[in-house]
Amino acid sequence: MNQTASAGLSLRGVVKRFGDVAVVQELDLEVEQGEFVVLLGESGCGKSTTLRMIAGLESVTEGSISIGGRDVTHAGPVQRDIAMVFQNYALYPHMDVAQNMSFALRLAGQPKAEIDRRVQDAARILNITPLLSRKPRELSGGQRQRVAIGRCIVREPKLFLFDEPLSNLDAKLRGHMRTELAVLHERLGKTTVYVTHDQVEAMTLASRIVIFDKGRIQQVGTPSEVFNRPANLFVAGFIGSPGMNFIQCHAAQGPAGVVLQAEGVSLSVLPAMGTLKIGKDYVAGVRPQALRLAEGASQLVLQVDVVEYLGTETVLVGQLAGQPGSRITAVVPGDRHDLLHTRVELQADPSRINVFDPQSQRNLCL
Ligand SMILES: Nc1ncnc2c1ncn2[C@@H]1O[C@H](COP(=O)(O)OP(=O)(O)OP(=O)(O)O)[C@@H](O)[C@H]1O
Ligand SMILES: [Mg+2]
Repeated sequence: MNQTASAGLSLRGVVKRFGDVAVVQELDLEVEQGEFVVLLGESGCGKSTTLRMIAGLESVTEGSISIGGRDVTHAGPVQRDIAMVFQNYALYPHMDVAQNMSFALRLAGQPKAEIDRRVQDAARILNITPLLSRKPRELSGGQRQRVAIGRCIVREPKLFLFDEPLSNLDAKLRGHMRTELAVLHERLGKTTVYVTHDQVEAMTLASRIVIFDKGRIQQVGTPSEVFNRPANLFVAGFIGSPGMNFIQCHAAQGPAGVVLQAEGVSLSVLPAMGTLKIGKDYVAGVRPQALRLAEGASQLVLQVDVVEYLGTETVLVGQLAGQPGSRITAVVPGDRHDLLHTRVELQADPSRINVFDPQSQRNLCL
């Protein structure tokens, strides 16, 4: 038995190859007891494969996995004390809700009184007590999803695994179930690994997000860390909507320190000031929300081509002065239709600018 520091889940040097193709590469991840960790990435990046290795449904090619401090690398799914909710949470059509929820416990030969207690408890938590004697066909999509989650709760596992559990639901129900999952985690405090390609789900549910690309972890961080200080250009471009502005610049000496300059651009950048080399090329990364209108500031001069009013704020899209074809997005408060086809001066909060090395793609502000 291999004792680990983390009582939750630990992946060490995990590699998965299908034939010659490595779909998960050198994965290291520590999940603390009670944490809600979201694996986020585009289709095919290896999220489900990783989750299935944690569940024991897929073997690992290299490396080790431990759950609750116990090495389970070679243990079968049943010995891992986990419960998993899939995207297609097939319920048994001929069983009612209570029977669906208790199926695994009955199979394991649990005493009837204990089974009843757990089913009642889970039903109360999920607000499905009045549905216990219904068949799956008599339930809505959201209710079915709750039953699928109830099946997991009754097993009182060490670890919850979710693979895109909300992607079959319509947008409104998805938002509602997302909140319910957050409440559920708050109440049960179970260690959870949740796979999604929806960044809103990731940002709202996760205590930490693990961002995958092509089978490799790009960054592990809190929602705020990955949003405000993305580790590299990939994460910076992946997280956030509208996306981060990337501006090709070079470092120059300004009156009050180093600035990043380009045609129509002059940015002071606090966090990376000491590391920038005069004359060298950089990519400035500025969130649309980090820009504000400021007459006379002229850090960014923008010719506004499109104005999108969203109710409480306006998205301005335009080109940098002197850089036709460039594209900058800014989000400003209120209805600013008046700015269409005008030239505006924008200021960026220096502490919210990120600077990337175009060669290594890494964020120099970390
Ligand atoms: N049994 C298998 N044999 C061969 N290749 C596989 C197998 N299972 C998955 N793959 C490949 O591994 C890669 C990762 O697949 P995986 O299902 O983990 O992606 P994912 O991140 O969950 O994507 P999605 O968001 O589409 O569900 C893909 O390129 C996939 O084609
Ligand atoms: Mg998947």
